[in-house]
Amino acid sequence: MSAEREGSALVTGASRGIGAAIARALARDGWPVGINYRADIEGAEAVVSEIERDGGRALALQADVADPGAAEQLFAALESAFEAPVLVLVNNAGISRDDLTPSLGDEEWAAVIDTDLSGPFRLTRRALKPMLRARSGRIVNIASVVGLRANAGQANYAAAKAGLIALTKTAAIEVARRGITVNAVAPGWIDTDMTAGVSSELLSAVPARRAGTPEEVAACVRFLVSDEASYVTGAVLSVDGGLAA
Ligand code: NAI
Repeated sequence: MSAEREGSALVTGASRGIGAAIARALARDGWPVGINYRADIEGAEAVVSEIERDGGRALALQADVADPGAAEQLFAALESAFEAPVLVLVNNAGISRDDLTPSLGDEEWAAVIDTDLSGPFRLTRRALKPMLRARSGRIVNIASVVGLRANAGQANYAAAKAGLIALTKTAAIEVARRGITVNAVAPGWIDTDMTAGVSSELLSAVPARRAGTPEEVAACVRFLVSDEASYVTGAVLSVDGGLAA
């Protein structure tokens, strides 16, 4: 594990899938990590145990990111647990509620926008305050290939992820002078619970002819969080086996 960090990292929706892989990768780089979960406490505790077994530090934190109070709750808990500012935020928590536009309900629209766009906005706003004071910080937003190119049945999800990319770019240029970077990662088809029900026939559309792994997404986040990525900001890094190319 690398040197002691002067701050901590928060990964939302980190009890499984891509978020869990990101949390493990950041912990290996020496970041004490807040493992946010909404309901799956067993999953979150398992990620914490795994990180601690490997010599890292982690803390499970319950919050629904769609709740307007979640940002303050999560940051206050992490700041006090690790006695350090949160210098890395990974907005990973996300949901999809698919339907074709003519039949897409208001509830499905609102749930996805609240979780995948408004939540990351509030967390980003809260994260930037201590980062601006520290003149240091990394924000990585997990968007999607669907935020870059159309996918039938996902108008709500696509609008949220495209909005997240626009938020990423705007925040990035606002804080670029202050040593803070804000980037997005746009995964394609990654093998997780979210894609468990998707027909594997769709894989023929992926130039790499296979699904990606959560670890392949985590590796890109790890790079964007690293010191080596200090001049990368406002970028969207596709991790999709060529799907968006
Ligand atoms: P997943 O469904 O396995 O994990 C999502 C996590 O977010 C779960 O732990 C869930 O409990 C959590 N979560 C959902 N709503 C939450 C809320 N309101 N508050 C707190 N936590 C909440 O999905 P996966 O695949 O790991 O997705 C992670 C991110 O990657 C999501 O933002 C997703 O949109 C994005 N993504 C996934 C792709 C894939 O192919 N799996 C492709 C492109 C993007």
